[in-house]
Amino acid sequence: MNNNAIGVFDSGLGGLTAVKQLLQVLPEEDIIYFGDTGRVPYGNRSNDTIKKYALQDARFLLEHKVKMVIAACGTVSSVAGDLKEKIGVPYTGVVNPTVYTAVRTTKNNRVGVIGTSATIASHSYKRRLQEENPDIQVFEQDCPLFVPLVENAFIERTDPLVILTVERYLNKLKECGVDTLIMGCTHYPILREAIQYVMGSEVTLIDSGMETAYYTKKVLKREGLLTGSTEQGSCSFFVSDTPDGFEKVASVFLGRQIADNSIKQIDIEEY
Ligand code: DGL
Repeated sequence: MNNNAIGVFDSGLGGLTAVKQLLQVLPEEDIIYFGDTGRVPYGNRSNDTIKKYALQDARFLLEHKVKMVIAACGTVSSVAGDLKEKIGVPYTGVVNPTVYTAVRTTKNNRVGVIGTSATIASHSYKRRLQEENPDIQVFEQDCPLFVPLVENAFIERTDPLVILTVERYLNKLKECGVDTLIMGCTHYPILREAIQYVMGSEVTLIDSGMETAYYTKKVLKREGLLTGSTEQGSCSFFVSDTPDGFEKVASVFLGRQIADNSIKQIDIEEY
């Protein structure tokens, strides 16, 4: 048993897709979230920069004595796999939990993967999917404008700007006949309605944040690290830029009002 918090980080709002599920599957756990909003997006930066940022983000969480670190970021999970060896507590990214579910979901063995440019260039999802099942054909597409859309609160399916952008990236994938689409960046489930609308209802969307939350429960159970508390856990949010925009989208997305004083700005360069 361990009553310390679970640490979750992302470049911005995307990791909230994991937090939303953690609140469902592990309601008694405390969560500390760091969104690197001052340096978002990560997905078009070099691998060295992404690795450096990821280590700083994890160090910040470790300073809060977290019992597990979740890189709720497809980009970090794809290019900074060595983080696991550097932090000394259980760690997960989002790629493996997501791949396990996609492999079980596809019926026609045609799987689409969307992610940031760095994630798609790494072929992390494709490689892991084909290791699990070599018969799976993988169709990849980077969608670099999705993260800025989400970070700037353009998230409604009824917004023509959102639909046009989603169509621009996904029309080709749709023609490939995939029956399963991995949203390989944790920001993308915030655009879920628009993505589902463009892909059609017959395509199953896999939410990397959600799958990672389920996987986290398994890890904590296996390691004997679940909390002993029976009360609802607390959630603290930290960002590296002004909390204003974060608070707005976070409240809508998590479906709960986030108290002003529970979001704090920190200087991530100190870590
Ligand atoms: N949520 C991050 C991911 O899953 C976004 C990365 C970025 O900031 O570009 O890849």
